[in-house]
Amino acid sequence: MEETHLPRAHTFSLLILTFSLLSTLSLSTFSPTDNHLISCGSTVDTTVDNRRFISDSNPDSPLLSSEQTTPLTNQNPSPYSVEIYNSARIFKKPSKYAFEIKEPGTHMVRLHFHAFFSSNLDLSGAQFHVLVNGYVALSNFSVGKVRDIVVKEYFIWADSDKVVISFVPAKNGNYGFVNAIEVISAPKDLIADAGFLVNGNKDEKFVGLTKQALETVHRINVGGPKVTPFNDTVWRTWIPDYEFLKSSKDLSKQMYFDGRIHYQYGGASREVGPDFVYKTARVITNTNGSVINVNMTWEFPVDEGYKYLVRMHFCDIASISLGLIHFNVYVNGYLAYEDLDLSSITDTLASPFYVDFVADDDSSGVLRVSVGPTNKTMAYGVDGILNGVEIMKMNNSVGSLGGKICAVMVLKSWPRGNISVLVPIVAGVCLFLSLAVLMHRRTVGRRNPAAWSKLPTEVPGAGSNYGNQHLSGKA
Ligand SMILES: *[C@@H]1O[C@H](CO)[C@@H](O)[C@H](O)[C@H]1NC(C)=O
Ligand SMILES: *[C@@H]1O[C@H](CO)[C@@H](O)[C@H](O)[C@H]1NC(C)=O
Ligand SMILES: *[C@@H]1O[C@H](CO)[C@@H](O)[C@H](O)[C@H]1NC(C)=O
Ligand SMILES: *[C@@H]1O[C@H](CO)[C@@H](O)[C@H](O)[C@H]1NC(C)=O
Ligand SMILES: *[C@@H]1O[C@H](CO)[C@@H](O)[C@H](O)[C@H]1NC(C)=O
Ligand SMILES: *[C@@H]1O[C@H](CO)[C@@H](O)[C@H](O)[C@H]1NC(C)=O
Repeated sequence: MEETHLPRAHTFSLLILTFSLLSTLSLSTFSPTDNHLISCGSTVDTTVDNRRFISDSNPDSPLLSSEQTTPLTNQNPSPYSVEIYNSARIFKKPSKYAFEIKEPGTHMVRLHFHAFFSSNLDLSGAQFHVLVNGYVALSNFSVGKVRDIVVKEYFIWADSDKVVISFVPAKNGNYGFVNAIEVISAPKDLIADAGFLVNGNKDEKFVGLTKQALETVHRINVGGPKVTPFNDTVWRTWIPDYEFLKSSKDLSKQMYFDGRIHYQYGGASREVGPDFVYKTARVITNTNGSVINVNMTWEFPVDEGYKYLVRMHFCDIASISLGLIHFNVYVNGYLAYEDLDLSSITDTLASPFYVDFVADDDSSGVLRVSVGPTNKTMAYGVDGILNGVEIMKMNNSVGSLGGKICAVMVLKSWPRGNISVLVPIVAGVCLFLSLAVLMHRRTVGRRNPAAWSKLPTEVPGAGSNYGNQHLSGKA
């Protein structure tokens, strides 16, 4: 203990450092009202990245009918493995978890799978269906021989007091499993209700996004590294864009910005996208002060037969001053946003903005997004930029994210045993769906591109949320 007396200046700067660290942490900490983290098949609670996953063997666990399930432990875990992936719960019969919901609204549901090999069972042999609140989330699902970790993420609107997750073996003699489950309230502004339908007829709106079941199929940090749940404001994973970028890498430049991101009223909040996503981008490079007439394009494999919510994140970290950025945005070859002028929307550089598009099923198995110059693009300006993309599959007309069979039929496919406990929950939804198909509704939006920037404010209650962001941006 030589340095009991720190020089005064040091103590002072230490204080400032501690204070600014604390305020940085508190700015980015979202605390969900509903926050259920469950470690399945484990007898003890497990902490991952400061988040406590509760054992589902507790008497007050959300797991119902546990006598029909078996806990399983990996006897030979890798020394580097994360604890929650070394235990699983096995379902030989339809079984369910019911999570109490305090606050109605969009909830994020994550299911974690790791098909480990235990002395008495190889989980890669499991095949099963998963239902979430009456939607088919997974059908005939099998992790297969991949020993990697598989995480499935959904956004589900819950207005009842429960989120119910059911596991149904694909057939008698088969079984389902899961290693961990998260059911968390989503930030209020995360899923806005309206998006722009891109189908060739310009200016059509898709309304009712919050009431769709969404499954995240791609979440990309363009031009940047992988962002892990630890570094994301709502524990998401963002992966780099390399494998999806189709245009020549010579045309684009990866950007990294070291300054501060300005989260502002009307733009994207930290929960919509973290600093890590907005601080990196890919831009179309001007050569010799002249506009190069090319698009930058990414292609994402998707399943046919579904609509997709395509969220594109923009943050002008490339311009040297305001007013030098103009570009077009295309989805599946359709002009989705004409002459996006970030400066006029955000009024300041390095301020994030996002747009939600809804892509119709085009049965090509590929979803394509591009950015490219417009006739307003300037030499020495930025010909196109993209910071992030999220692609979310929307439930189809029978309420499924995995095929044409609705939840009631999935349960009925189970040949024997007492499933009557599960049927009433989903029956209502299937009935409702049949009606909804008949009434398939779309609302035609206004022919006013300026309305696009106002999208996020259409969420009820978002105002106060943005207000906070605004204040914290000034702190
Ligand atoms: C699962 O696969 C079988 C065999 O291909 C098929 O008959 C059944 O309809 C599928 N179930 C679901 C829920 O998709
Ligand atoms: C979080 O981000 C920091 C800064 O980029 C990085 O050093 C760290 O490895 C990341 N942590 C995780 C768990 O990804
Ligand atoms: C840019 O200018 C340099 C020198 O003026 C020239 O050698 C080069 O070919 C030009 N590049 C392009 C892509 O036009
Ligand atoms: C960019 O892509 C769109 C849609 O495919 C196309 O109409 C446009 O001509 C392309 N622009 C350039 C510069 O290639
Ligand atoms: C720019 O393009 C728009 C539509 O694509 C067109 O209406 C406008 O006339 C063009 N302007 C110029 C200067 O070419
Ligand atoms: C998704 O399911 C809901 C019923 O919960 C239904 O109203 C909606 O039309 C479905 N979405 C699509 C795109 O068919």
